[in-house]
Amino acid sequence: MKISCGTDIIEIERIKKSIQDLGEKFLQKIYTKKEIEYCESKHNQKYQHYAARFAVKEAVFKAISEYLPTTTHIDWKSIEVENDKKGKPHVTVHGVETTMFQNIEISISHCKEYAVAYAIVIIK
Ligand SMILES: CC(C)(COP(=O)(O)OP(=O)(O)OC[C@H]1O[C@@H](n2cnc3c(N)ncnc32)[C@H](O)[C@@H]1OP(=O)(O)O)[C@@H](O)C(=O)NCCC(=O)NCCS
Repeated sequence: MKISCGTDIIEIERIKKSIQDLGEKFLQKIYTKKEIEYCESKHNQKYQHYAARFAVKEAVFKAISEYLPTTTHIDWKSIEVENDKKGKPHVTVHGVETTMFQNIEISISHCKEYAVAYAIVIIK
């Protein structure tokens, strides 16, 4: 069994600017429907949550990329974050053999200026 990890930190202002400048084009390229619904439910705090999900996608990609077959196509929306009833975030990587990774755990934090995420992946 191998363990791989990834992390990412992002300025919330950068994501806010992309959303304000590019609007739906940016949202639809990066985020799934469920992610957009979650972030929009946070109203004026939404950019922190969008930035956090962007950071998760980067962190997970860093953790899994070297284990993916070159034929596997991963785009932003392939990595999806959902929160459970307690608020704990979970990630699903769509389009990747589910047998490849035993488990992917993520953690998120955000404040006014930055969002950070890390991912720990257990590889079979
Ligand atoms: C849930 C909690 C940990 C979030 O911490 P916070 O400092 O308010 O906020 P952060 O920015 O660091 O983290 C927010 C992220 O935490 C994650 N989170 C929320 N609930 C969670 C839970 N039950 N388990 C794991 N992660 C959780 C979410 O990913 C959230 O971001 P998202 O809504 O964009 O997905 C906090 O509100 C809490 O309940 N703390 C309890 C502390 C406590 O009881 N301490 C005593 C024992 S040490």
